[in-house]
Amino acid sequence: MAHRKGAILPVLAFSLLVSSLLTPSPAAAAAVFSDASAAAAVQLDALLAFKKGVTADPLGVLSGWNFTAGGAVGRPRHCDWTGVACDGADHVTSIQLPESKLRGNLSPFIGNISTLQILDLTSNAFAGEIPPQLGRLGELEQLILYDNIFSGEIPPELGELTSLQLLDLANNSLAGGIPRRLCNCSAMWALGLEVNNLTGKIPSCIGEYLSPKLKIFQAYLNNLAGELPPSFANLTGLKTLDLSCNQLTGPIPPAIGTFSNLQILQLFENRFTGSIPPELGRCKNLIRLNIYSNRFTGEIPGELGNLTNLHALRLFDNELSSEIPRSLRRCTSLVVLALSLNRLTGEIPPELGEIRSLRSLSLYFNRLTGSIPPELGELRSLETLLLDSNRLTGKIPESLANLVRLKRLRLSDNSLSGWLP
Ligand SMILES: *[C@@H]1O[C@H](CO)[C@@H](O)[C@H](O)[C@H]1NC(C)=O
Ligand SMILES: *[C@@H]1O[C@H](CO)[C@@H](O)[C@H](O)[C@H]1NC(C)=O
Ligand SMILES: *[C@@H]1O[C@H](CO)[C@@H](O)[C@H](O)[C@H]1NC(C)=O
Ligand SMILES: *[C@@H]1O[C@H](CO)[C@@H](O)[C@H](O)[C@H]1NC(C)=O
Ligand SMILES: *[C@@H]1O[C@H](CO)[C@@H](O)[C@H](O)[C@H]1NC(C)=O
Ligand SMILES: *[C@@H]1O[C@H](CO)[C@@H](O)[C@H](O)[C@H]1NC(C)=O
Ligand SMILES: *[C@@H]1O[C@H](CO)[C@@H](O)[C@H](O)[C@H]1NC(C)=O
Repeated sequence: MAHRKGAILPVLAFSLLVSSLLTPSPAAAAAVFSDASAAAAVQLDALLAFKKGVTADPLGVLSGWNFTAGGAVGRPRHCDWTGVACDGADHVTSIQLPESKLRGNLSPFIGNISTLQILDLTSNAFAGEIPPQLGRLGELEQLILYDNIFSGEIPPELGELTSLQLLDLANNSLAGGIPRRLCNCSAMWALGLEVNNLTGKIPSCIGEYLSPKLKIFQAYLNNLAGELPPSFANLTGLKTLDLSCNQLTGPIPPAIGTFSNLQILQLFENRFTGSIPPELGRCKNLIRLNIYSNRFTGEIPGELGNLTNLHALRLFDNELSSEIPRSLRRCTSLVVLALSLNRLTGEIPPELGEIRSLRSLSLYFNRLTGSIPPELGELRSLETLLLDSNRLTGKIPESLANLVRLKRLRLSDNSLSGWLP
């Protein structure tokens, strides 16, 4: 309360000063100005309520949020407070206080700063619920509450934020479902919900309004279940899709082949079933395709060989039962190729020796037959080669002696003969 008393006075003084300068039409000017000063007072109140909600500020980041501190003449002092920015009309447009070790609750009064465009509280220790009043911030473009300890549910009211472009609620303790109303945030290009305790399905409306503006969707490390909804096919603008470490089921929709900007696709540690869609081979910009530890069956599509930008292809720990496609030779950017723990048959394609960028090749625990192709000795960057627990026969090729960077080599549990070079 002490702060509040101090608060109103400078605003009034400022108001009198300015209205006395506007002589021509005093009545009109006073009316306009009193609106402006009332608005400023509301914003000031909200900032003071925000400060009051902070129960620990060991770095003293908010100690300057007072009225003895400087401030340009004719400008509300709070516009110069640490982390606060105003526009030319002295309306608060952003509050940015990342990594400030602030502890406490986020005051619902923040919902009164109707001109707010950015609220960034990254890496603090705000706890309690995210106030639903934030849904009143019609001009909010970025809401970044990443790495705090917010609990409770995501307020459905955030769906009213039609200007919202970036919503990052990751690394908190949020529970409950992803509210359907978020689908109404039609300006959204980045949605980060990872590392929470979210449950339920991905809302069926996700691709109805968000598409195709949405570029980043991350919700890994939650408890989401169910299938990807049909409207998912509309999210063709995605560059990063990461839903790893959930309990998602059903197939990857073949429409994924139309996501031509896709660079990162991570769906590992879920319960996806069905075959790996050959259409993925059309996502030419893919850099990371990590879909290991699911229940994919059928073949490794030869079309994946079209992914010449791919750095990591991890399909291990599934139920894949084809041969290893020779077309993978064209994935000449591959650093990691991990196909272990499947039911792959046939021989190890000698063509894999053409992927000179490879540092890790793991094919263990499959049903691979034939001998180890001497061509693997061409993989001079190889650090890890795991071929154990297969049905490999013949002599261990001498060319493996060329693998001077090799740190891990496992060939056991096969029917190989000869000496390790
Ligand atoms: C008010 O802010 C100024 C400038 O940041 C600071 O030096 C001063 O200690 C603050 N006063 C109080 C009472 O916190
Ligand atoms: C601001 O928000 C609070 C909490 O949401 C509310 O109780 C209060 O009436 C609002 N104040 C003004 C002046 O709008
Ligand atoms: C967010 O969570 C992930 C996964 O637990 C963790 O690796 C990362 O370090 C966390 N981020 C921060 C800033 O703590
Ligand atoms: C989205 O907004 C429209 C109109 O503003 C409303 O009718 C509809 O119910 C909203 N949808 C959701 C899922 O909230
Ligand atoms: C997640 O939610 C479950 C059930 O709602 C609860 O048992 C568990 O403790 C929660 N985990 C975390 C990390 O909050
Ligand atoms: C895909 O987007 C279009 C246009 O925004 C929309 O009309 C259609 O209903 C969406 N499809 C699905 C399956 O949601
Ligand atoms: C992708 O790969 C398949 C099979 O390897 C091939 O038939 C097809 O022509 C390739 N498509 C493109 C667009 O390169």
